[in-house]
Amino acid sequence: MDTNQLEQNFDAKLARNESIEPKDWMPDNYRKHLIRQISQHAHSEIVGMLPEGNWITRAPSLRRKMVLLAKVQDEGGHGLYLYSAAETLNISREELIDQLLTGKAKYSSIFNYPSLTWADIGAIGWLVDGAAIMNQVMLQRTSYGPYARAMVRICKEESFHQRQGYEIMTVLAKGTAEQKAMAQDALNRWWWPSLMMFGPPDEKSPNTANAIKWKIKRETNDELRQKFVNQTFPQADIIGLKLPDPDLKWNESKGGFDFGTPNWEEFYNIIAGNGPCNKARISARTKAHNEGAWVREAANAYAEKKKAVLA
Ligand code: 3HC
Repeated sequence: MDTNQLEQNFDAKLARNESIEPKDWMPDNYRKHLIRQISQHAHSEIVGMLPEGNWITRAPSLRRKMVLLAKVQDEGGHGLYLYSAAETLNISREELIDQLLTGKAKYSSIFNYPSLTWADIGAIGWLVDGAAIMNQVMLQRTSYGPYARAMVRICKEESFHQRQGYEIMTVLAKGTAEQKAMAQDALNRWWWPSLMMFGPPDEKSPNTANAIKWKIKRETNDELRQKFVNQTFPQADIIGLKLPDPDLKWNESKGGFDFGTPNWEEFYNIIAGNGPCNKARISARTKAHNEGAWVREAANAYAEKKKAVLA
């Protein structure tokens, strides 16, 4: 088949909502787009373990510590499914990790903020995992099969993460005046960065048009951001916390909230590597990668030996 026919077959498969599988022909730009997005997603899961890992030894009770440990481990697992999905697109794990550690690949802006108090762990679960799941539900139907299948389990776990964060916030908001103030302070600091997680406004998003055309994303950055605000307002209200946005108000005609504009200058500064924690995050990942070299060597030696025995 010539390239035209291959392209027609590819487009027809997308039109029938059939998934594209690793051995199927695909346009090179589709492959590159997926490697970029899936690897950014995988890196976000792994780097996202750091701000929460920071609180494991300081969790206020054994129960809280066990739940947080399990959550952070889940994120590690998500990273591994996603790296495996990216590898099916003909790129090695070494190359993907190298892109993260040398700053060529991005990871979510949100993980460049510090987690200052225990309430931040509640706010991260509620808002950050809440925003992640708002974005990721549609990815269960993304057009690339291995990515879509990885997302099914990830979404189940992210929805549990969102609930554990909201439960922490609920307990703090109904606690002492100091606890409630700590919860409100965490909400104030994490709200705007959570809205930025969805990416720049649609008219400034260079990748959205192709992502929608190829059915990689099923909804745009602004559509998802709007849904997130609509969903989160009543959750804050019911526990007596206030979203830190003076422009927030119900708009009857659109059936959703109007809300203020995130600080996009701060966003672009962070994704350029200049946020409060960018350097600390990459240096922690580099240290972990270097210290894990012996594990990779041992696993490779075992695999080689097994191959030799079976040959
Ligand atoms: N953080 C860092 N970079 C971001 C970003 C963010 N929040 N939002 C957008 N960008 C980058 C894009 O990667 C792109 O840069 P690039 O072209 O160099 O890669 C540029 O900003 C322009 O953005 P676009 O809107 O054009 O890019 P996309 O169409 O890819 O949309 C996205 C951005 C919504 C993040 C999309 O990539 C996506 O849906 N990714 C999959 C989900 C994901 O990565 N989630 C990470 C969230 S954290 C997480 O899941 C961990 C959990 O445990 C909480």
